[in-house]
Amino acid sequence: MKFFVDTADTSEISELNALGLLDGVTTNPSLILKSGRDIMEVTKEICGIVDGPVSAEVAATEYEQMMREADVLSKIADNICIKVPLTFDGLKACKAITGDGRMVNVTLCFSANQALLAAKAGATFISPFIGRIDDTGDDGMELIAEIRTVYDNYDFATELLAASIRTVNHVKQSALIGADVATVPPAILKQLVKHPLTDKGLDAFLADWAKTGQKIA
Ligand code: G3P
Repeated sequence: MKFFVDTADTSEISELNALGLLDGVTTNPSLILKSGRDIMEVTKEICGIVDGPVSAEVAATEYEQMMREADVLSKIADNICIKVPLTFDGLKACKAITGDGRMVNVTLCFSANQALLAAKAGATFISPFIGRIDDTGDDGMELIAEIRTVYDNYDFATELLAASIRTVNHVKQSALIGADVATVPPAILKQLVKHPLTDKGLDAFLADWAKTGQKIA
């Protein structure tokens, strides 16, 4: 499973990229707002940090304006992936943008039927929002499993990108189901390495090593 980081914070992106953990980045209007930076400037900087796809979202809701915005965003770098909402205009834009060889991430997916439409429109990535479904009292992981089944039934090339990840368990369940990508907030990505038995075991090894009086280097 590929890891994307879901942030527009360039210092977090640089830190995680240096660890070799990142296959890409996703942003959205809320994350751009949180960064406090200009979308063009911050997106260009992100594209210079990571080699993989960097999702930049259009702000328009109508097809013609989406296409104009997509053209502007595409010029930022070769690794830009245009993010469009899961609406009829978004799907139309998806078809047109992928038709000329550019990547598209279709976002705000909340049903398997929506995911089916996105795949038929040629989406590079589909972004079902796990956490926001959990927020309603339903189970977001069920949607990931449903989309996996639908895409496998028809050999769709669209990559299943698990989004709105809020817990380390969301990451594990996505990997077990076979999501192609998980886009994960930096804090959750860092939590993945943690286990209390790792810390406890390391403390014990260090204590015993000190008693040997030896040095390796
Ligand atoms: O990638 C989409 C993601 O940013 C949404 O996450 O936590 O705002 O539901 P959240």
